[in-house]
Amino acid sequence: MVSLKHANKTRALVSQILIFNNNINILSVTCLTNPRFYSITQAVQQIEDDNNNTTNTDIRAKDVVLSFKEWFKTRNDVIFDRIFDILRSQDEDDHGSRESSDLQLSQMGLRLTESLVLDVLAYGKNKDVLSCLKFFDWAGRQRHFHHTRATFHAIFKILSKAKLMSLTIDFLENYMKHSYVHRVRFYDTLVMGYAVSGKPDIALQLFGRMRFQGLDLYDFTYHVLLNALVEESCFDAVEVIAKQISMRGFENDVTRSILVKSMCKQGQLDEAEGYLRRLASDGMVLSEQMVSVLVGALCKSNRFEQVGRLLEHFRELGIVSMEHPYGVWLRELVRDGKLDVALEFLKSKKSLEGYVPDVSRYNVFLCRLLKENRLREACDLLMEMKEEEICPDTVTMNATLCFFCKVGMVEVALELYNSRLEFGLSPNGLVGKYLINTLCRKGGSDEAYHVLKTCIAQGFVPGRKTFSFLANTLCRERKLDKMKELVSVAVMHKFIPSGNTFDNFISALCRARKVEDGYLIYGELKRINKATQKNTYYSLIDGFTQSNRGDIAARLLIEMQEKGLTPTRNLFKAVIRCLCHMENAENQFDKLLQMQLSRHEPSCQIYNFFLYGAGHSKKPELARKVYEIMWRDGTEPNLSSDILMLQSYMKNEKFSEALNFFADLRSRRKIGRKLYNTMVVGLCKANRPDIAIEFLKEMRINGIFPSMECYEVLIQQLCLTGEYEIVINLINDLGKVGRHVTTFIGNVLLLHSLKTKELYETWIQLRDAHNETSTVSLLRQLIGVFAGCIGVNQHLDDWEEMIGRCFPLDLYTYNMLLRKLSISDINHACEFFNRICLKGFEPNRWTYDILVQGLSNHGRTAQAKRLVEEMFQKGLDPTQRTKLLI
Ligand SMILES: *[C@@H]1O[C@H](CO)[C@@H](O)[C@H](O)[C@H]1NC(C)=O
Ligand SMILES: *[C@@H]1O[C@H](CO)[C@@H](O)[C@H](O)[C@H]1NC(C)=O
Ligand SMILES: *[C@@H]1O[C@H](CO)[C@@H](O)[C@H](O)[C@H]1NC(C)=O
Ligand SMILES: *[C@@H]1O[C@H](CO)[C@@H](O)[C@H](O)[C@H]1NC(C)=O
Ligand SMILES: *[C@@H]1O[C@H](CO)[C@@H](O)[C@H](O)[C@H]1NC(C)=O
Repeated sequence: MVSLKHANKTRALVSQILIFNNNINILSVTCLTNPRFYSITQAVQQIEDDNNNTTNTDIRAKDVVLSFKEWFKTRNDVIFDRIFDILRSQDEDDHGSRESSDLQLSQMGLRLTESLVLDVLAYGKNKDVLSCLKFFDWAGRQRHFHHTRATFHAIFKILSKAKLMSLTIDFLENYMKHSYVHRVRFYDTLVMGYAVSGKPDIALQLFGRMRFQGLDLYDFTYHVLLNALVEESCFDAVEVIAKQISMRGFENDVTRSILVKSMCKQGQLDEAEGYLRRLASDGMVLSEQMVSVLVGALCKSNRFEQVGRLLEHFRELGIVSMEHPYGVWLRELVRDGKLDVALEFLKSKKSLEGYVPDVSRYNVFLCRLLKENRLREACDLLMEMKEEEICPDTVTMNATLCFFCKVGMVEVALELYNSRLEFGLSPNGLVGKYLINTLCRKGGSDEAYHVLKTCIAQGFVPGRKTFSFLANTLCRERKLDKMKELVSVAVMHKFIPSGNTFDNFISALCRARKVEDGYLIYGELKRINKATQKNTYYSLIDGFTQSNRGDIAARLLIEMQEKGLTPTRNLFKAVIRCLCHMENAENQFDKLLQMQLSRHEPSCQIYNFFLYGAGHSKKPELARKVYEIMWRDGTEPNLSSDILMLQSYMKNEKFSEALNFFADLRSRRKIGRKLYNTMVVGLCKANRPDIAIEFLKEMRINGIFPSMECYEVLIQQLCLTGEYEIVINLINDLGKVGRHVTTFIGNVLLLHSLKTKELYETWIQLRDAHNETSTVSLLRQLIGVFAGCIGVNQHLDDWEEMIGRCFPLDLYTYNMLLRKLSISDINHACEFFNRICLKGFEPNRWTYDILVQGLSNHGRTAQAKRLVEEMFQKGLDPTQRTKLLI
């Protein structure tokens, strides 16, 4: 009974949701399936904000919740849920538990009838077969109720559908012991049982034996048998049994509809249609079932148009109710994706014939519309269901929550979810998934976490994907305690999330400096034999090396290798360096080396990792030891090994060792470019350009051209020690062989000319001795300008261009120009700062710092302070000197 008020209220809500929905429809249809869902929900939020009237939206949400709650409370299958809850809570092996659930069932005061039992079984058949059986058993033990053939048939059908054959057979074998045996004939039930369990051959044998004993079946059982034979495609036997039925005068509309099914099953669709039409014209009673069977079969073979005509024909005849055939037709249309045709049909039948489908048909529509994100139509349909006062069932409610999640009204969904107890809804199979995902996306990870926990606690395990989604969100938001709890809840319920989830979690823990916690989880994973990803090992090993637990890091390194993962050289280095900082460094180092050698075929690679690691850990003596072990074990060091050994010496300032080693090498191998380069670069980096230059000369004499890096580091070092003459010689050397000055070298020279005139003056003196190339002479003039020895009234653009002709400019070069300008012309410097940005360079710490210093030197403190603010915003830290100035 729709009160007027109720109807009006609902309609008001409809229009509200539709307005709301209108706005997002364009978005939603195309985008809700898009992985970039977040931005869409943001867009929805935006729309809500645009209609600003926060209070209004609030009220709207509340109204929607209230109205849906009201509707949900009208569901009429609550009692079935209660029955199944009781049955599910019953412990198999515990007799007391059975008694208590018997008691609870009795206390419900059910009026047991055949139809109630059938309803309960129908409700439970797809959800919980075992509970169906328990209910059947309980009902059979009640004094006022006796199972009927229909109830037997129903339970057998459930058992056979669930492929619980053996259970059925047990059932049949124990059958005689039960008290209800007297009520139904023994053979009759046996035949029915075997027929329904897909064993019509045994059923037929039993039937034969009965006939031999002069017994006969009830008409009901005849039909069960006939139907089973059709199901199993035993068409010969179908004919025989049909004849028997007819001879006994049992033939009725049930027989005929089974025969229609038989024809359909044999692909004789036209024959079946002819048969039906003939029956109709003969004035026989037709059942909805017969028409439905044919409709279903025609649809399955894609003869939709024929169905349309057929339905119209029978409707016009007006001799059979069309509700069921319409239902089948709609179901098949939806299944075939002809959703629009189906909706159109529904609309017209509703207005013309007052046809209202039942809840399950509506559900099919609703779910399909949701699946295709046709939210507006889904909304219409939901409202229609409410107006028609269709009693919602679990599927409807589930779909409704899903709908609200999809249109972005997740607060409504959450509210309905949280009130599920009010309308007796168990979260079993509810849209936990949608709710959790949507909540996560809308920044409600705490609520999502809560939903997931209740789901798991009530035995409903959400999909792995959902779990990972939430877990990753929690990790990203650094809600690690929640995450930890979630994992333990999951594991407690024997739900193992995917490895990826754990990996993210472990990495998040390591990032949060909770590497021990991460390690515990890693241990758990190992225990249940779950593979850990490479990145996770990296996170853990990094974590442990940072907290100086080299021993654990080393163990992880080995475990990682056991999993077939290859660590990089740098990971090795990190572990070795950590070991070398431990108390008994040498022991630890040896242990790792021995383990590596015992686990793998000794190879250059392994040794080289250790050479590299030791060199970087300030342990050249350990590197030397490794090198010797190599020889001893018969692994000849390759060129890389020799280079690493050399670097190890030089990095640690063991020059005489390096030189001796190099001398040894001369006797062993031809000294090539790589080894020379290593020496030159290594010596320079260790502040010995004096020795380095000798090697460079030797190279040139041997006709080997040094790498540019050699020139770069040498020139840098020589500038530092003020040996400008050699610098100029090197630059001329480069020019002669047609090499260009690199940006690095150019910057070094400019930097020095800013500090001193000496470089330029030396260059002038040496000019005549050399036959300068044009680039070199240009470079010389540039240095003169920078040193202030050549007139500076040139415009900045010319400078830039001049530099550009000598070498390509980088940010460092621009910073130097900026420094020069900020001393002479601060206005111009500010302009230049903007130009640097316009050129596509991102100003770095130094760019800012130079300008801030310039500004404050010119007394423009306020401007300088503003610039420092900007630095902080970008996460850049001013230099100490600048900090003092400001
Ligand atoms: C909408 O209302 C909220 C809360 O009153 C307010 O913070 C927000 O600025 C308003 N937005 C607009 C566009 O008026
Ligand atoms: C807010 O909602 C009320 C009631 O619907 C309406 O009268 C008012 O004009 C709205 N205000 C704004 C700013 O949209
Ligand atoms: C609930 O709805 C979701 C989304 O439509 C679906 O995936 C799920 O299977 C439904 N569960 C039940 C029990 O209907
Ligand atoms: C030396 O051996 C390692 C490992 O096999 C290899 O990666 C490297 O390229 C070798 N070096 C040279 C110069 O061949
Ligand atoms: C300088 O170079 C030019 C052309 O490359 C050459 O003709 C000339 O002899 C050189 N002079 C000296 C002093 O090397």
